[in-house]
Amino acid sequence: MIYNRSGKSGLLLPSISLGLWQNFGAANDYSIMRQIILGAFDKGITHFDLANNYGPPGGEAEINFGKILNDDFKAYRDELLISTKAGYYMWPGPYGEWGSRKYLMASIDQSLRRMGIPYVDIFYSHRFDPNTAMEETMSTLDSIVKSGKALYAGISNYDAEQTKQAASILRSLGTPCIIHQPRYSMLDRWVENKENKLNQSLLDVVDEEGMGCIVFSPLAQGRLSDKYLNGIPVGSRIARNLGNGAIDAGALNERLIKALQALNQIAHQRNQSLAQMAIAWLLKDKRVSSVLVGASSLDQLHNSINALNNTAFTSDELNTIEIILKEN
Ligand SMILES: NC(=O)c1ccc[n+]([C@@H]2O[C@H](COP(=O)([O-])OP(=O)(O)OC[C@H]3O[C@@H](n4cnc5c(N)ncnc54)[C@H](OP(=O)(O)O)[C@@H]3O)[C@@H](O)[C@H]2O)c1
Repeated sequence: MIYNRSGKSGLLLPSISLGLWQNFGAANDYSIMRQIILGAFDKGITHFDLANNYGPPGGEAEINFGKILNDDFKAYRDELLISTKAGYYMWPGPYGEWGSRKYLMASIDQSLRRMGIPYVDIFYSHRFDPNTAMEETMSTLDSIVKSGKALYAGISNYDAEQTKQAASILRSLGTPCIIHQPRYSMLDRWVENKENKLNQSLLDVVDEEGMGCIVFSPLAQGRLSDKYLNGIPVGSRIARNLGNGAIDAGALNERLIKALQALNQIAHQRNQSLAQMAIAWLLKDKRVSSVLVGASSLDQLHNSINALNNTAFTSDELNTIEIILKEN
């Protein structure tokens, strides 16, 4: 494993981290979850990313992860980096989502109870709340860090301007925002977009503010692999029709499949799977500290980790990829 510094912080992140959004819910096989988590750690994946609402049902991924942690590798807690988040809908009534102090404080306590641990390493505001003053959300992250319930503060899904403001407030409180978690893949490049009041992309802002960047859904939820090139396989995320933000059949069309086939050919020429090339393509930007993958089996995760065997691109390869992505 290669470890990269999260911005200007002291924290090192594995180049590939594992997320528990899907595949760790009540309906999933516990022995497979355990295999994935322990197998990940064996390969140097020290970072496991959770959120209050991961499951389904919400909370279940934290419960399953907590059980695996406490049964199997409690002794390794100091070698692990565990994150959780709050921001999306978690419980009924006015205090179960968004960015108020009331919600975030209750949520971190619930997450710690579910996982059976006294602190997480990173606590994130999962999304910007347009109806709560940024000062309230950020001062709550600061309180959570200062109370010892989290070691570091982060934000997720904030745009470039919101990120600049959040970083400035947290800095003034003495708790730097050390990490941003945005969606980023070959198929979704919003973090590169400079069309805003700052004329800076989110990646520019993150870099300027000394924050690390851990990018999620690097395989566009599995589309940037060879699995959908010839239809929708049984058991795949699309076939399972999970809802709640997971892709469905509408996420595929003929034009996209053609582009994926062309990308797959370049990957083959590089002696990589398409999934490996999609991960390597993200890591070529040094502002990307970690690529946060999901996996429904340990074999898949092993395949993704082998992306690290070839992360260099020739300018010809990059140009061809760019043309394919623009045509899509
Ligand atoms: N902050 C946020 O708002 C937010 C939102 C979404 C996700 N996240 C984080 O990002 C993590 C990853 O998200 P994601 O699951 O969408 O990421 P992803 O890596 O783009 O997709 C993972 C899925 O792709 C397939 N796959 C994985 N490796 C493969 C390989 N080597 N070859 C072929 N197929 C492969 C599997 O799908 P099948 O099930 O089809 O096998 C797997 O479940 C989440 O767990 C979560 O921690 C954060």
